[in-house]
Amino acid sequence: MENFSIVIFGATGDLARRKLFPSVFDLFRYGHLPEEYRVIGTGRRDLSHEAFRRTVLEALRASPGAGGFDEEAIAPFLRRIFYVRLDISEPEGYHRLHREIMDASGQSGVCTHLLYYLAVSPGLLPLIVRNLQAAGLGGKNLPCRGWRKIIVEKPFGRDLESARALNAAVGEVFNEDQIFRIDHYLGKETVQNILVFRFSNGIFEPLWNRHYISSVQITIAEDFGIRDRGAFYEEVGLLRDIIQNHALQLLASVAMEPPVDLSADSVRDEKSKVLRSIRRHTPADAGTAIVLGQYEGYREEKDVDPRSEVETFAAIRFFVDNWRWQGVPFYVKAGKNLGETRTRIVITFKCPPQNFFGPSDSCGYTANQVVMTIQPEETIALRFGTKRPGEAVETDPVYMKFDYRDSFPGEGLTAYHRLLLDAITGDRMNFIRQDSVEHAWEVVDAIRHALDGRHPEPYPIHSDGPASASGIYG
Ligand code: BG6
Repeated sequence: MENFSIVIFGATGDLARRKLFPSVFDLFRYGHLPEEYRVIGTGRRDLSHEAFRRTVLEALRASPGAGGFDEEAIAPFLRRIFYVRLDISEPEGYHRLHREIMDASGQSGVCTHLLYYLAVSPGLLPLIVRNLQAAGLGGKNLPCRGWRKIIVEKPFGRDLESARALNAAVGEVFNEDQIFRIDHYLGKETVQNILVFRFSNGIFEPLWNRHYISSVQITIAEDFGIRDRGAFYEEVGLLRDIIQNHALQLLASVAMEPPVDLSADSVRDEKSKVLRSIRRHTPADAGTAIVLGQYEGYREEKDVDPRSEVETFAAIRFFVDNWRWQGVPFYVKAGKNLGETRTRIVITFKCPPQNFFGPSDSCGYTANQVVMTIQPEETIALRFGTKRPGEAVETDPVYMKFDYRDSFPGEGLTAYHRLLLDAITGDRMNFIRQDSVEHAWEVVDAIRHALDGRHPEPYPIHSDGPASASGIYG
């Protein structure tokens, strides 16, 4: 690859600091960047290149991966980082950006390959792409050789209608094959492994359906609050932040049919079909199938309305209305400030027809389960009943466990590292297609509509969420 620049909008924000710069540094140290590359951060503050490099250095220092590197290893990376002051609504900043990029390419007739990363509120996208276009930095009709791609962060829109409008706006400036809608969960090793686990092992797939599975539970729990993202959370809330994307993508990976092949569109076709098949909630079932919560103290967080009704917790019972899953409940629970940080998928199998080894209701206790822990541990465990040693013939549940870190010690790629690399090479499998975005919004819009303005229930910090959430398990 010749000249290459990554342009980050929102370069002084939380996402850039915590995830993007450490991942771009990973691209650098693993040799995934061409020699002639630049990283250009943009932001509203008036910073020199040097001052901006210092903020990037601080971000790297605070990151678990990059933090262990010494100044000497980081210095050549920092030298390739630049800063452009750019107010998103002012065309002048985009012209400054254009000049900075031209300085980088240094040759006429050859465009720098450009990867834009929009780490900003989704509402700003139309404005940014229009201004890029006006400054000659759009994706279509390039005056020179080179590619341009754009990564846009989730949530893509705030409902179905706005997602469509957003797509139309971005589509005026970039072709579909230049647009990468990111959901970083799809870059996680353990999430990618769901497909491999299901479709490379002959013993599980025949059981992976309504005849043998009694329920699926997906939990995305975090033991911390909204951090300093009060303004973002007030605009978005947990349904849009976690359920519309991460949780429904996990559900789609668990429930999808085998793809025709491993091409990006074959895989995304199957996921899209699952999202389309999710039964939409109605006001009639909202009472028993959906619980929203807000942690105590949320309203005192910085940039949060003291009367806010924004949810920081959701527990929802879904059904997937297709041949494979008819009647199997998918229990999805996600929340901030819960008792632990853990993302886990539990597949529970049906009980044997007769139970010889204990009280008649004891199967729930030993029912077979496949437990996939996505993070912080990276494990898959198979639960089965076994005889407890002693005179009586009684069963206890035990686990056979695979741990990524034991079997594959050493570093894997972080989610953002992998997805940045995929975007650079043009692999679209783990980016969301617009039809999936829209189906996921249909699901979330139906939830909001079904709730009809019901307020989230308060829950204590570091609890399991509102007590009523257990009601969704029926
Ligand atoms: C982000 C959400 O997409 O994912 C955050 O906006 C959430 O609210 C984060 O904390 C969780 O991602 P990870 O990979 O850090 O667990």
